[in-house]
Amino acid sequence: MNSAVSSEYFRSDWHGRVRLPSDRRPQDAEWCEIKDEEGWRRIRFHDYAEIYRERWLYDHLFYGLLECRSPQRVVGLLAEVHAESPLAQRPLRVIDVGAGNGIVGHQVRKAGAEYVLGIDILPEARIAAEKERPDVYDDYIVGDLTQPTLEMEQKLARSRANCLTCVAALGFGDIPPLAYANAVKFVECGGLIAFNIKAEFLDSRYTHGFSELIRRAQAGGILRIEALRRYRHRLSTAGDPIFYTALVATKLAEIPPDMLVDPA
Ligand SMILES: C[S@@+](CC[C@H](N)C(=O)[O-])C[C@H]1O[C@@H](n2cnc3c(N)ncnc32)[C@H](O)[C@@H]1O
Repeated sequence: MNSAVSSEYFRSDWHGRVRLPSDRRPQDAEWCEIKDEEGWRRIRFHDYAEIYRERWLYDHLFYGLLECRSPQRVVGLLAEVHAESPLAQRPLRVIDVGAGNGIVGHQVRKAGAEYVLGIDILPEARIAAEKERPDVYDDYIVGDLTQPTLEMEQKLARSRANCLTCVAALGFGDIPPLAYANAVKFVECGGLIAFNIKAEFLDSRYTHGFSELIRRAQAGGILRIEALRRYRHRLSTAGDPIFYTALVATKLAEIPPDMLVDPA
């Protein structure tokens, strides 16, 4: 790992208190160890609640040490498409799904969004966003989009969204296709959908879950793909590059319920 990389995300309070294993392991089995008063403690990367509980650890770990730049890459592509789209004269109103501690929200604000609604399934994510990026979200829902409550639906409808972002939250059993489709419902037709996913998950061999939903939605005239870019999402704990695809599409019509396949 190149520790000389300068990054706004490194936090001096975490310096020397996070260590990573150097052997190779599957992405969904990665972990780190953090040092607190009681010594070193292991946290799995997918235990986001534990990571968000430690102030600024998420930024230091993923964006500092592992050099993740997906929010910039996805939102950069979104901004390019927006500038040339029929929506160009209107500012973006964004629903940010899997919002975490607000890094994506911060990027869409920088890109000129006039309204940003965050959603995450974890209360710890909202608490982290409130502490670490208090000026990013106009509202932040904690809830499960597979079974949205009436209150969630009212907030989503009031957002009058013309854009949906979802970064680093698809394809590893995180946000199920049904939850994603339930969020897409609240984006106007003609609005923009921006997300990223591990590059091979868009390969036609992956015939389940989110990959299949996107393929069917494109074939069925529900989504029109405007831009797609493969790029380095972040480093693995062993220092190898992990490639993702950023994708921006226009929503042309509502997703019919029978377009959803298994929840993987
Ligand atoms: C890797 S983090 C990404 C956070 C942020 N988008 C970023 O790019 O830094 C994945 C986020 O997705 C959230 N998530 C996972 N499953 C979810 C679900 N079913 N509904 C909403 N959020 C979910 C997690 O709680 C976590 O905050």
